[in-house]
Amino acid sequence: MRLTGKVAVITGAASGIGRATARLFASEGARLMLGDLDEVGVRQAADECIQAGSEADAMRTDVTSGDAVRRLVEGAVARYAKLDIIFNNAGIGMPGSILDCSEEDFERVVAVNLKGVFLGCKYALPHFLSNPSGGAIVNMSSNGGLIGRPADPLYVATKHGVMGLTKSLALAYADRRIRVNALCPGPIDTPMIWQGMDPDMDREEFIRRAVAACPTPRMAAPEEVARAALFLASDEASFVSGVGLAVDGAKAAGVFNANRYRLDFDLLG
Ligand SMILES: NC(=O)c1ccc[n+]([C@@H]2O[C@H](COP(=O)([O-])OP(=O)(O)OC[C@H]3O[C@@H](n4cnc5c(N)ncnc54)[C@H](O)[C@@H]3O)[C@@H](O)[C@H]2O)c1
Repeated sequence: MRLTGKVAVITGAASGIGRATARLFASEGARLMLGDLDEVGVRQAADECIQAGSEADAMRTDVTSGDAVRRLVEGAVARYAKLDIIFNNAGIGMPGSILDCSEEDFERVVAVNLKGVFLGCKYALPHFLSNPSGGAIVNMSSNGGLIGRPADPLYVATKHGVMGLTKSLALAYADRRIRVNALCPGPIDTPMIWQGMDPDMDREEFIRRAVAACPTPRMAAPEEVARAALFLASDEASFVSGVGLAVDGAKAAGVFNANRYRLDFDLLG
């Protein structure tokens, strides 16, 4: 078990990547405090962790609120007497060109995707500084934190912001045993990706469009990202800090546009 004795906070834990990571961390021995806007979903996620043999609790948390994020972190420390890991995972998509997006859209996506990560780091760091073992921060970025994308520039801007925060905090706290890394997933099969589906489009057509710019022609399962989160959070990554780990089937590795206007490639199962 790779997280025995560790205490972890996970945001956005009611669904998708956060929920899969909560289950995996629980099965690896971590004790968990889970936060999400979706109170019912996050309680179900905590129940799954308990069924996996771990200790877990959940709190309705809006990551755009400093008070709420502080309560989540303090709740973990009050319950388990320390904090070792925070996975700042909560996020929202924001499709649409700059002309289509409003100032309110900008403020909303920055508040959830960037301010939410800032708040998680800010309120977890004092506990890592007082923990003799230090701590591990895993921030959720995206392949859109490594490369530009024309279809969702506001989302991409927030995910680049997460990379800047991650690298800067990694530098600032490296000598205090605190590692700060980010995950940069490609297309992952979670509710977020399906929210972008046009109701008139059939499922396979939607998958083709979602993975057309991904050299590995499939969506990955949330568990495939959870395993990368586990690596970054665990002592196996003891000398890994300041990186954005791409979990993206090579999407951010370079330009891939030879078949730009073709959607008749073979999908992998
Ligand atoms: N699915 C993908 O293809 C993909 C790719 C790259 C990065 N990501 C990132 O992964 C993270 C998780 O997304 P997912 O794909 O699992 O999506 P998801 O929609 O399944 O899960 C996101 C969770 O975040 C929660 N959330 C949203 N706003 C919140 C807020 N203000 N406060 C607290 N919780 C909030 C939602 O309730 C939901 O449970 C996001 O940051 C997303 O940007 C996803």
